[in-house]
Amino acid sequence: MNARMERDLNREEFQRYHDVIYKIAGIHYPTEKLALLSNRIRKRLRATSTPSFDIYLARIQQAGEAVEQQAFLDSITTNETYFFRCQRHWDFFKTWIAQRAADATKRREPLRIWSAAASTGAEAFTILIVLHQVLGTGFGGVQVEVLGTDLSSQVLEEARRGAFRAYALAQTPPPIVKQYFTKNDKDDFLFDRTLARCVTFQRHNLMEPLLGGRMFDFVFLRNVMIYFDGPSRERVLRHMHAVMRPGSHLIVGESESLLSVKHSFQYVKPSIFVKPTGAPTAPRVTA
Ligand SMILES: C[S@@+](CC[C@H](N)C(=O)[O-])C[C@H]1O[C@@H](n2cnc3c(N)ncnc32)[C@H](O)[C@@H]1O
Repeated sequence: MNARMERDLNREEFQRYHDVIYKIAGIHYPTEKLALLSNRIRKRLRATSTPSFDIYLARIQQAGEAVEQQAFLDSITTNETYFFRCQRHWDFFKTWIAQRAADATKRREPLRIWSAAASTGAEAFTILIVLHQVLGTGFGGVQVEVLGTDLSSQVLEEARRGAFRAYALAQTPPPIVKQYFTKNDKDDFLFDRTLARCVTFQRHNLMEPLLGGRMFDFVFLRNVMIYFDGPSRERVLRHMHAVMRPGSHLIVGESESLLSVKHSFQYVKPSIFVKPTGAPTAPRVTA
């Protein structure tokens, strides 16, 4: 990288990167984040010995540059996550499992839960812990499928390893850490191998519909819509709605209001929504 590239993006360069990121991932980088974005891209310029922001931008838009485009997306996403994030959500989920998990068995279908924007997997593994705590060994005979998806391939690789630093477990009660994790010689906490078999991690861009015909009973879509503007939020909510069973629940991040966003979910309580049974097809605006 050229010494001149120690500078930040200028306004025009920032706008060009903004538009490409928005087009691919629906992520809206506000101008206040210019320094952060510059920093993240500079790391890719260094890693690829690219002399300028413009040359790198042209490269990642070329057909045949899928690997570098993915490395770019990995670098511009924010992947903060930890186990038992927002206890109120897990309390709701616990009650929901106790009341609803048996429905899946009656339907003779797996209970399907989606951790959308899963990052390194702490949310998907928390789902498994809570299911295990409520339903017991073998999930009490309920067949369980947890799907964890993310735009970033790098975090998904970490999720598949199921190894976490102590930071990710800071909100987890010690008896749970003891029951579901083993510590290795690098001080990583390894998630229970048997339970981990119930989760599949898959790359998926929330701007696209999820294919495969699976219908979900519960969806966690937390702490990702903060990076989206109104139209991107509406798009992702439409995609979620399409793969959720009537009567299924959606949880969004605590700070993510759906106010002023068109969607077809019914408000249950702060950050918790339900897809109505006999759901209307036309979206409407609700809190
Ligand atoms: C802050 S983390 C949230 C992780 C977890 N849901 C939680 O609440 O702890 C946000 C994640 O969203 C992912 N993400 C951002 N844009 C995305 C998109 N368009 N499609 C899928 N995932 C996306 C990022 O890669 C990142 O891992």
